[in-house]
Amino acid sequence: MQISRNYSKFADLNIKCAVLIRTKKELKSLLSSLDKSKGLGLVPTMGALHKGHASLITKAISENEMVVVSIFINPTQFNNLEDLKKYPRTLKEDIVLLHEISNDIIVFAPTALEIYAENVQSNSYDFNGLDRVMEGEFRDDHFNGVGTVVEALLTLVNPDKAYFGEKDFQQLQIIKKLVEIQQIPVKIVGCPIVRETSGLAMSSRNERLSKALRLEAAFIYKTLKAAKKEFGTKSAKYVMGWVRGQFQGHPELKLEYFEITDASTLKPIQEKQQNTKYRAFVAVYANNIRLIDNIALN
Ligand code: PAJ
Repeated sequence: MQISRNYSKFADLNIKCAVLIRTKKELKSLLSSLDKSKGLGLVPTMGALHKGHASLITKAISENEMVVVSIFINPTQFNNLEDLKKYPRTLKEDIVLLHEISNDIIVFAPTALEIYAENVQSNSYDFNGLDRVMEGEFRDDHFNGVGTVVEALLTLVNPDKAYFGEKDFQQLQIIKKLVEIQQIPVKIVGCPIVRETSGLAMSSRNERLSKALRLEAAFIYKTLKAAKKEFGTKSAKYVMGWVRGQFQGHPELKLEYFEITDASTLKPIQEKQQNTKYRAFVAVYANNIRLIDNIALN
């Protein structure tokens, strides 16, 4: 990919890298000057990048000639102003990491004003119930906020493919529903969860765990794997009770929810059915730090 040197705008960050774009106008102008026939990929993020994000970007690079990585902390998906304020802002480090992956990446890091103009509000979508369970149940209006920003980014960039992690499996299903209901012509690619050596799913929040608690948190994935094994021979009800019991033996990991659902509708399982894919989801508080994870059960 050839990008004009004029777009190398890292002067304000005092580092050398590929392309940092701050405005929609600049992004549109750059994209229209490039040959998109070999494929354009989009990886939406909120920054504080780690190896989980990097895996999406690497996959996008392997499948597309050009890749846009957006870094935007989306205010409308936070239901708590404190959380929004506390969200790590590490643009400089993020760009260094992106540069290590490739210096051909187009980084789009707009302001909220650029995305929302004066109206910082989310649209209201009908996600057919996908947004009312688990992360939606405990985080009011969260998925309308996610849908709003992802629709805005997809419309702006108009990629062939957009990449999302299975770490946020419910979000991935909702984005698939979003492009269906809004008829957005893009292929949504789901990417596997990247884990620390201990098995803990990678997340920027892991940095906030003490060393001891970070090791302890490996219990979450260990229990998911054991639940999968149990699910092979036991009923869903048994597995749910068993998992709750396991967490009772680990009071420093406070279980918020453990659910087994149909993997595509996210409806809670009643009785196991043949030819249906199931998935288990968990949310846990480790000393006020909320961790989520999930696993395919069959
Ligand atoms: P963010 O939390 O920054 O995550 C960006 C993408 O990285 C998401 O698709 C997420 O599922 C993926 N990801 C995070 N940790 C991962 C891991 N350990 N393994 C694999 N993929 C991982 O999710 C968001 O931002 C926002 O909601 C966003 C979609 C950008 C909309 O604002």
